[in-house]
Amino acid sequence: MKKIKLNKKHKRENSTRWIQRHLNDEYVRKSKVDGYRSRSSYKLLEIDQKFKILYKCKNILDLGCAPGGWLQVVKALTSQHSVIVGVDKLEIENIKGVKFIKKDIFDENIVNILSSNFNDKVDLVLSDMSPNSSGNKSVDHLRIVSLVERVIEISKEILRPRGFLISKIFQGGAQGELIQLMKIHLNNIRYIKPKASRKESSETYLVAEKI
Ligand SMILES: C[S@@+](CC[C@H](N)C(=O)[O-])C[C@H]1O[C@@H](n2cnc3c(N)ncnc32)[C@H](O)[C@@H]1O
Repeated sequence: MKKIKLNKKHKRENSTRWIQRHLNDEYVRKSKVDGYRSRSSYKLLEIDQKFKILYKCKNILDLGCAPGGWLQVVKALTSQHSVIVGVDKLEIENIKGVKFIKKDIFDENIVNILSSNFNDKVDLVLSDMSPNSSGNKSVDHLRIVSLVERVIEISKEILRPRGFLISKIFQGGAQGELIQLMKIHLNNIRYIKPKASRKESSETYLVAEKI
């Protein structure tokens, strides 16, 4: 009984802290002014400012795209003839010129479903996904690793040779088999922690090319 009360209190405190931090966040305020659906847009903008990838890409896939902040950036920074596909478990509001697919990336048919939306191989795969936290560190770690592994597996199938992958990963998450998998399929691996990524978050971004 006591334990449930404590959990509820902590949840309430956490959610109040989250709301306060959200309201005070400069990127949240900026996104309202600039018309972006999420503060995450600024992460992709900074990554692209540094690596200059988007302008080279015509076929782009965004894994875990809701609510669509990265899709808005992709739409704005690529040619009007680009084929842009976003996938998420959650619904998003329509973005003109973007195809949305409501699916879990662990769906066994996902590669076929995604491929059928492109005429050619994909130039760029994006992923800003993070798993839901279970509250258990080891479980969360496994979820993170399997999510990034899945992103690499999908990229391996769908990207053209020397196509780009920009993916959220977590510091301490790229270990053992995941590093092996990255080395087998990816080249020119670089990391960036954009300013809009909160300092206290262990997230960082991998920028790489398919071998
Ligand atoms: C941080 S949000 C992405 C924000 C997005 N880049 C933007 O700028 O609006 C992460 C998204 O990944 C999605 N996601 C997490 N796991 C997923 C999975 N297995 N399959 C599909 N989507 C997933 C979540 O539903 C969530 O919408």
